[in-house]
Amino acid sequence: MSSVTSASTMIKSASDLATLSTPDSIRQKHYFLNLTADFEKKILVGSTTITFVVLKENASVVTVDTNQLNIKGVSMNGSMLQWKLGDFVEPFGKALSITLPKVYPVNSELEIKIEYETTKKSGALQWLPPAQTDGKVHPFLFSQCQAIHARSMMPCQDTCGAKCTYEANITVPKALTAIMSARGNGNPSQPVITDDTNNDSGVDMHTFSFHQPVACATYLVALAVGDLKFKSTGERTGVWAETNVVDKAAYEFDGMEAMVDAGESICGPYVWGRYDVLCMPPSFPYGGMENPCLTFVTPTLLAGDRSLADVVIHEITHSWTGNLVTNSSWKHFWLNEGWTMFIQRKIVSKIHNHQTAELDASLRLKSLKDTVKMFGPKHNFTRLCPDLENVDPDDAFSIIPYEKGFHLLRYLEDVVGGAANFAPFVKAYIKEYAHKTLNSHEFKNFYLSFFTDVPNTAQINWDEWFRGTGMPPVDNKFDDSLAQDVVKLKNTWLKTRGENCSSNDIKNWIAMQTMYFLDLLQGDDAKVINKSPELLGKMDVVYGFTQSGNSEIRFRWQVLCLRAGVREIIPHVVKLATEQGRMKFTRPLYRELFKTEFGKEIAIETFKLNYKLYHPICAKMVARDLGL
Ligand code: BES
Ligand code: ZN
Repeated sequence: MSSVTSASTMIKSASDLATLSTPDSIRQKHYFLNLTADFEKKILVGSTTITFVVLKENASVVTVDTNQLNIKGVSMNGSMLQWKLGDFVEPFGKALSITLPKVYPVNSELEIKIEYETTKKSGALQWLPPAQTDGKVHPFLFSQCQAIHARSMMPCQDTCGAKCTYEANITVPKALTAIMSARGNGNPSQPVITDDTNNDSGVDMHTFSFHQPVACATYLVALAVGDLKFKSTGERTGVWAETNVVDKAAYEFDGMEAMVDAGESICGPYVWGRYDVLCMPPSFPYGGMENPCLTFVTPTLLAGDRSLADVVIHEITHSWTGNLVTNSSWKHFWLNEGWTMFIQRKIVSKIHNHQTAELDASLRLKSLKDTVKMFGPKHNFTRLCPDLENVDPDDAFSIIPYEKGFHLLRYLEDVVGGAANFAPFVKAYIKEYAHKTLNSHEFKNFYLSFFTDVPNTAQINWDEWFRGTGMPPVDNKFDDSLAQDVVKLKNTWLKTRGENCSSNDIKNWIAMQTMYFLDLLQGDDAKVINKSPELLGKMDVVYGFTQSGNSEIRFRWQVLCLRAGVREIIPHVVKLATEQGRMKFTRPLYRELFKTEFGKEIAIETFKLNYKLYHPICAKMVARDLGL
């Protein structure tokens, strides 16, 4: 069977790129950001000087993306240029068109300075008051640009294909430290600034300088400012966090040096210099974000026993798949995330063991099934390569590209005879596409050309994989040795209703087994438990899930209790939903509470009281989930 995937549904098209700019005619290659953080007004003020390269003859207009920015002026070599902002297009923002004074020959480099400030509506930025930090004394600022929010922090061609190097000078109050997804995180370059134009509040300021010499997509530009301290965990790794969190974070992520080494052995050299992690304040909306040189992570990973540190393995893996080899547009997001899940599990196999990696795949297969069920099996968003014209990538975000992408790669590995045969392909793929972007069609061609002498590749139904809806077309099997004990204990509870069960049952389990246990209890065959608040009460006495220090276990337990009608869980649900704002937890907790008869009002009231604590993306999503 030959594949019918048409190049036209796969190839980069303007509408696919989620940008209003025209990088095909004049493309950015470097920015110099010069910004001051004004914590009174909650805005960044300053300029970006972008170096552009002319790619097409007769091009006379440069366009960049902006969203909720206040543009003040545009100049080149000191002369003002004419510019105008286009109409606002939801959710993409406004194109900023800059007219050049004349036409320049192809390959000319133009340095254009754009003076601007951000606004309260800049979706990339969250400005936290001291009360929302750990220390409670100083404010905190952080950015989250993926997928299309970079344009609300700086004017830029906000699309994956316009990769850039960057430098920045960031001026902040003297009590605070600025760090970025770049080199140079550390000491302020200019200790005190007395320039009053940037400083009318009389606060002493200082400036930090950064440079990122490896070209990266705009969604990877990141900034954080706060009362930050650093602690080393190895030669090229370390953690940043607020003063009182830094030791805990350094303990939790102590294994990072070995994780980077394992990544190099599978993918090739680590090109980014340092790998540091910043442990964020609790409102950070994701588990982790792979900002180059400086991954941002949620503090909900701080379980105290390193049991959730594998999220860092995921983010380290993006150093190759995502940050070095990048999806050409969000339609092909699986090339970032599916590849990263696949390599992440290879690293987990090396660092922990194969069984743990396999249990992780089984665990997330269940979430994949739940997500397909939630969207419906014919939904566009269940495609590996969904149609995203005029779609906000935040709306399409789900586990589908992660796990369907992983399943495709696992299948492609089997087709060519297993891991040993596939490993050289992994290295060759990364080498071939390093510093570039690609789409699914290009991926397919590269795979087929690498394995021309493997006849089995002819049976791959690429079109079904890329464009089919619902569950993956092939059922991959996983090593279930760690799952067996879990299934056994679940069955014991069903049969005996917990008689003779004790905390010893799970004493030697890894946290992932407990998570799997709780997931199994949500399944159909566990309805007995599911429908029985008393039985869950008994289970809590035996295992103490309500008091667990592991956020993944607490979360799963609370969902189970809500579904079973255990009213006593409500205060714990409210606590977890409001003490942190990671969407993976916060959204389902509100949804589940809202679905119950006894919790509907509480869900709405709690959200109305607390929505200001959440990141704008999280607040928007929960509001939508609750129909507000
Ligand atoms: N790049 C993602 C986070 C992301 C995706 C942010 C899309 C904005 C838009 C990151 O690498 C990620 O996938 N994080 C996961 C952790 C992981 C172990 C699957 C998360 O946040 O849960
Ligand atoms: Zn990821």
